Amino acid sequence: MPQSVLTGPLARPLPMPTWNNFNKKIYNAALQSLEHTKLERPESLTIRFSRAADLEKIVDLYSGQRKTIIDPHNFVRPRRFEELAEPVRSGAAALAIDENGNIRASALASVYRDGNGGKKNITEIGAVMCDVGGVGLSKIVLAMLALKQTFDPRAGERVFAKVARDNAASNKVFASSLGWDQVNCPHESSTLYDVAYRSNRGQGKRDRLWYHFSGAAREKASGILQSCVDQEALKSKDGSIIALNIEGSSLWSTLHFSSMLSLS
Ligand SMILES: CC(C)(COP(=O)(O)OP(=O)(O)OC[C@H]1O[C@@H](n2cnc3c(N)ncnc32)[C@H](O)[C@@H]1OP(=O)(O)O)[C@@H](O)C(=O)NCCC(=O)NCCS
Repeated sequence: MPQSVLTGPLARPLPMPTWNNFNKKIYNAALQSLEHTKLERPESLTIRFSRAADLEKIVDLYSGQRKTIIDPHNFVRPRRFEELAEPVRSGAAALAIDENGNIRASALASVYRDGNGGKKNITEIGAVMCDVGGVGLSKIVLAMLALKQTFDPRAGERVFAKVARDNAASNKVFASSLGWDQVNCPHESSTLYDVAYRSNRGQGKRDRLWYHFSGAAREKASGILQSCVDQEALKSKDGSIIALNIEGSSLWSTLHFSSMLSLS
């Protein structure tokens, strides 16, 4: 009877798992399981502002496993229930929701008070995440949210976004797809920093690139929303199409109010 190599004279113990190959195994298994949880490309999307009923899914997006999948470099700070509850209830998140009710893109607006009558209040648009690449979806969500923030009589002129220098995709979206102006003027940026970092006792990374939602960017945002409403679909470069549910979206109402307010 042939002798088993496991029990014969040449038998050697299996190599002991080292800390390194043990970690690698766990890491690869984790990556594989994340692959399985990636969502399919959507067939249709509704792009609208948030309400209280969205809270659970938004908390999951900003703190759960989907955050790891969409934002592996952690460009967006994780956010928990307490921080999200009130903004979500009051419509400060803009969402793209697919036909299965999954949130496929999101962005948040935060208003910072100047502590001195409100003349220098600012709105920061940020925490954008999107897992439907190649159709310019984050651009649409951001354009809709930024336009809505201009309706705020105290912070409407001062809508900004801040982006890490090494975040190529996000810098491209703000600078190019949306046409926001980079804030370069030292006086403007020092006022901006005073207000933006005030609520955080002056703390915060100042090496970020700041962008301003200028008049030209507003026009561009209106054009982006108008073309969504007209075409009722998003087209990718490979020709595939994602339908837009215009009736359920906030695209048209935002565009409508924006054009009425800019007449005054
Ligand atoms: C940033 C983000 C929201 C963009 O999502 P999106 O709208 O689906 O992005 P798109 O696939 O349409 O890409 C936008 C543009 O950036 C370009 N781009 C994408 N990845 C890029 C990269 N790594 N380097 C350079 N350009 C890149 C695309 O080609 C596209 O340009 P185009 O319109 O000229 O073709 C998404 O990548 C994301 O969720 N990232 C993780 C979270 C994050 O970084 N948030 C920003 C915090 S400020």
